[in-house]
Amino acid sequence: MPFKSTDENITGGKDFPDLYYEEDNLVSLTIDRQKVRVEKGMTILEAARWMGIKIPTLCYHEGLTPWGGCRLCVVEVIKRGRSKLEASCTYPVAEGIQVKTNSEKVQKTRRMIVELLISSCPNSRTLQDLASGMGITEIRFKMEDNDCILCGLCVRMCKEQMMSGGIGFINRGAKREVSTPFHKSSEICRGCGACMYICPVVTLQCRGRREPGDLCNACINVCPTDFGF
Ligand code: SF4
Ligand code: SF4
Ligand code: FES
Repeated sequence: MPFKSTDENITGGKDFPDLYYEEDNLVSLTIDRQKVRVEKGMTILEAARWMGIKIPTLCYHEGLTPWGGCRLCVVEVIKRGRSKLEASCTYPVAEGIQVKTNSEKVQKTRRMIVELLISSCPNSRTLQDLASGMGITEIRFKMEDNDCILCGLCVRMCKEQMMSGGIGFINRGAKREVSTPFHKSSEICRGCGACMYICPVVTLQCRGRREPGDLCNACINVCPTDFGF
């Protein structure tokens, strides 16, 4: 994030984008037992990624406003001795906090979230890939074909990048869905297709699932490490 340095001798009064950081613009925290100092205003997800730590995400996209809807990016944040699960894509870094990105509690929660999402949209290849990556081989919930996990990526893409607003969330609770106003064809939709491009359910449907309740897991089987290489 660019900032204006106060040291005229060093910067000549110009904005320096990357290399110069003011001390009071930094916070110290611990992520996976590594002490780190990062810029104020960063999220835990950004700080972790900057350190090369992988945290899975679903409703987050670098080009869009973080929303914190899917909770897949959950991490354990320990503050004043108390631990809480938080969405790392919206939680700002803070002085002295400890973060665990892959604790048992975190893994268990993420697996539960993926299971719930797959039970809602079993043909999403993105979700099937996530399940395979986590070694999930069975879903404990009733399968439905809802074709939407309510991640909101399409809505934000339409509004923030396409400057449109052709679609949005309607209704609440179990009836919540993404739609055009009054389910009618939207006059402001430009037909750009960006909402479909970004949707984790529409893009690349998984072909591997056979019966309701089945998990594909083909991705697990073709993983080279499974052949003992
Ligand atoms: S196709 Fe229409 S609804 Fe979809 S992103 Fe483009 S303008 Fe928005
Ligand atoms: S339609 Fe796709 S992108 Fe939009 S909220 Fe549903 S799953 Fe997310
Ligand atoms: S990726 Fe953070 S809540 Fe969805």
